[in-house]
Formats: sequence, structure tokens, C-alpha cells
Amino acid sequence: MRFDIITLFPEMFTGVLAASILKRAGEKRLASYHLHQMREYTTDPHGKVDDRPYGGGAGMVLMCQPVVDAIKAVEQMDAIPSRRVLLSPRGRRLNQELAAELAREPRLMLVAGHYEGFDERIGQLVKPDEISIGDYVLSGGELAAMVLLDAVVRLIPGVLGDEASPHSESFSADELVDGGLEYPHYTRPREYAGLSVPEVLLSGDHAEIARWRQAMAREVTGRLRPDLSAGILSPATK
Ligand code: ADE
Repeated sequence: MRFDIITLFPEMFTGVLAASILKRAGEKRLASYHLHQMREYTTDPHGKVDDRPYGGGAGMVLMCQPVVDAIKAVEQMDAIPSRRVLLSPRGRRLNQELAAELAREPRLMLVAGHYEGFDERIGQLVKPDEISIGDYVLSGGELAAMVLLDAVVRLIPGVLGDEASPHSESFSADELVDGGLEYPHYTRPREYAGLSVPEVLLSGDHAEIARWRQAMAREVTGRLRPDLSAGILSPATK
């Protein structure tokens, strides 16, 4: 899967792309990352990409020309059709379902804005999907783009080894978790600071362990995220 990232701060991405799962996906050639400096696409002789808002007010607004031209020029760099994504606090909220949907695309074009936001006409001209990572305002779309990258890349088939498979983790649709939170995990030692690992996990009875995990996933979800419980199927149907 190809990722193009258009930003005024490509250097923000270098550490994130050079570590852990994102790095490994790149090494396995399951993901390729292409950073593009938005400023290189402005026709302004001084490298200007933003200007004051019409109507007055605080902050600067990203101008149409550099953003639209950058998207079009970057798209031309590869024949793979791209899904255009603009990171913005007003966008569709990123969740596991949307991450899985994006992971099925052959190419994502992520556009990270900065300052007050984008000139409204950019949306009309390039018709991107606007995506938000939550109801708070970041200084720019870069951190949001990194969050999206991480959530998407780990879902590309083959990226995670078996030892870290995306099944049965929170928000996944499998039968144990069912869109809710994950069940609790334990590892060695069996006892630590007077606290023991639940006996059932040591039993070797896989059916019993699966039942316990499903029950715990429901309990944890009901307690910590009751808003997610609607997705939990009733015991009668499972
Ligand atoms: N840019 C600024 N805030 C953002 C947010 N919450 N999500 C995505 N992009 C943003």
C-alpha cells in the first residue's frame, strides 16, 4: 500500500516511520511512505502557502493553489489511484471500522494542514474525505496523520506477525470482543505482589478460556465503555 503525505513539516514523520510496526511494514514492502513538502508546490516566489482570512479574524488559512497543485502533482507520481484524505477536526471520526476500510485501499494521499485550516474551496476542488482523530484541535494535521497511519498500516495483511495479530483486540468484530474492549491479559509470573493469574487461564481448557475471555470482554466494556455495549451481542445469540 502506498502512502503519500503532503505536509509543511515532513520532518515530524521521520521518527515515527523509522520505528516499530510502521518501519517493519516498510521493510516488508507492504507499505511505502512518500513525504512531500507542500511548500515546494507554491507558485509564490517567497514560498508562501497561507494568507489572512477574508472577513478578518485570527490565524492564517492555507491557500488553494499550493494544496490543490501538490495533490495533483503527487498523484501523477504513480499510476495507482489514490483516496484523498484531509486531516481536519471537522472530519469523520476515525475508528477501527474506518481504519479497516482505509487499509483495503491501494493508496492513500494524506494532506496535513496547519494554522487555522484550509480554504474551503480546496474541499470543493479535490473532494477529499475529511477525517478527524477526535474532538479536540491539534496545531496541525501531522499528528493526526501519524495516528491514522499507525492504525491503518497494522491492519494491512501480513504486517503483524502471528504473535501480534489484530484479532480479538479492542473494537474488532470477532466473537470474543464483538466491537467492545479486549479481555484482560496476564503473563508470567503466576503470582505477583500477592495477585494471582485467574485459574482458568492455567487450565489448558481452550473452550473454557474462550468463554471466560468473552465474559470478561463484556464485563470490562460494560464498566469502562458502556457506550460500546450496544455492539455486544446478547448471550442468547452467541
Ligand atoms: N487537525 C487539527 N486537529 C485535528 C484533529 N482533531 N483531527 C484531525 N486533524 C486535525
